[in-house]
Amino acid sequence: MSDVFYIDGVRTPFARAGAKGAYWNTRADDLMAKATVGLVQRNASVPLDAIDDVAIAATTQQGDQGLTLGRTVGLLAGLPTSVPGYAIDRMCAGAMTAVTSMGSAIGYGAYDVALAGGVEHMGHHPMDFGAHANPRFAAERLLSSDALNMGCTAEILHDRFPHLTKERADAYALNSQRKAAAAYDAGHIQPDLVPVAAAGPEGWVSVTRDEQLRPQTTLEGLATLKTPFRDNGSVTPGNASPLTDGATVALLAGADAVSRHNLSPAMRMVSFAYAGVDPDVMGLGPVPATQKALAKAGLTIDDIGLIEANEAFAIQVLTLLDFYGIADDDARVNPWGGAIAYGHPLASSGVRLMIQLAAQFAQRRDVRYGITTMCVGLGQGGTVVWENPHYAGGN
Ligand SMILES: CC(C)(COP(=O)(O)OP(=O)(O)OC[C@H]1O[C@@H](n2cnc3c(N)ncnc32)[C@H](O)[C@@H]1OP(=O)(O)O)[C@@H](O)C(=O)NCCC(=O)NCCS
Repeated sequence: MSDVFYIDGVRTPFARAGAKGAYWNTRADDLMAKATVGLVQRNASVPLDAIDDVAIAATTQQGDQGLTLGRTVGLLAGLPTSVPGYAIDRMCAGAMTAVTSMGSAIGYGAYDVALAGGVEHMGHHPMDFGAHANPRFAAERLLSSDALNMGCTAEILHDRFPHLTKERADAYALNSQRKAAAAYDAGHIQPDLVPVAAAGPEGWVSVTRDEQLRPQTTLEGLATLKTPFRDNGSVTPGNASPLTDGATVALLAGADAVSRHNLSPAMRMVSFAYAGVDPDVMGLGPVPATQKALAKAGLTIDDIGLIEANEAFAIQVLTLLDFYGIADDDARVNPWGGAIAYGHPLASSGVRLMIQLAAQFAQRRDVRYGITTMCVGLGQGGTVVWENPHYAGGN
């Protein structure tokens, strides 16, 4: 058995999905390969042939996200042919599941070094495109039609928790935009972005920033937005994560590999858990997942100094905070903003959370533990508990 360490992680800048987005003419597997090259280049002390496996997630595994991504990305990124790879899917928690699967293999002692990440080109692969839900789901009422539309599940959360109002969701979204803008201004985000050369309508451009940040957001502007998932509803384009293209990847290693390759761990994996909830309230998934992961770690929420929660929708983060009695604007939660500002390229977002938590750990020697947590389509949640190796006491 070995400790499992997150050594490093990078991502492409996230872009708007669709024909107006920066990656419309860029293949998903090329985005993923670009991020992978960036990661191995900046961790050059790890010989490429020491990588035991590559797990890459995507929610839609066809077209430029087909053909067993972990393997194709390894080949495209110039990894030796001896390095194997595979594809993985747990919808939005794909990259998180890639990390926990590779982490499990390292913890068990089967692997020393592994890459884990995810990509989603939501422009090339609109949500649910090509999927054919089993007719039994409707015929036997195993799933409501709302459960298959993530925005509708968010509206149902507003129904179930009426004190979590649209106004609170909008205020939360505004805060996410402000925190992301401040993090960019402070230069916290840029070091972990791998620039991408992309063909645009006017030729090649270098994409170096997340494309969908809206630093000019105001509460008044948010209040006027349409509610596309329900007439007079509460979920708007402003308090939901936008449709996004992007790729992320992390380098994981066990204790022996850390000393052998002279690595500096950024986080230690303490525990992880996934949990299911009623698919109608998919966004509640982080609650039982966090309960399970904390119990496994022998910790309580009071031990957690930083929370990186994926903001699929403001309302679903609010349900998690409400459950634990944490204020909507608590400084421990997404200090550099979240998916409402950066975007949420489904299967890649789990590692974005880890990238931001790892960077915060390096600055916050007073914080010992943090979590990354996210909701997952069809009613699931996933949470990973991490320890800060830079911890110097105080929390
Ligand atoms: C909500 C959603 C349908 C909106 O899609 P869209 O209409 O293509 O979004 P847009 O970016 O064009 O925004 C729509 C409008 O809102 C405006 N807007 C968005 N965010 C805003 C903000 N923060 N402040 C002010 N205006 C904003 C846009 O400018 C646009 O205005 P326009 O129509 O005048 O151009 C889409 O983003 C979505 O489905 N999100 C959820 C994705 C999801 O389910 N992920 C999985 C989670 S489990």
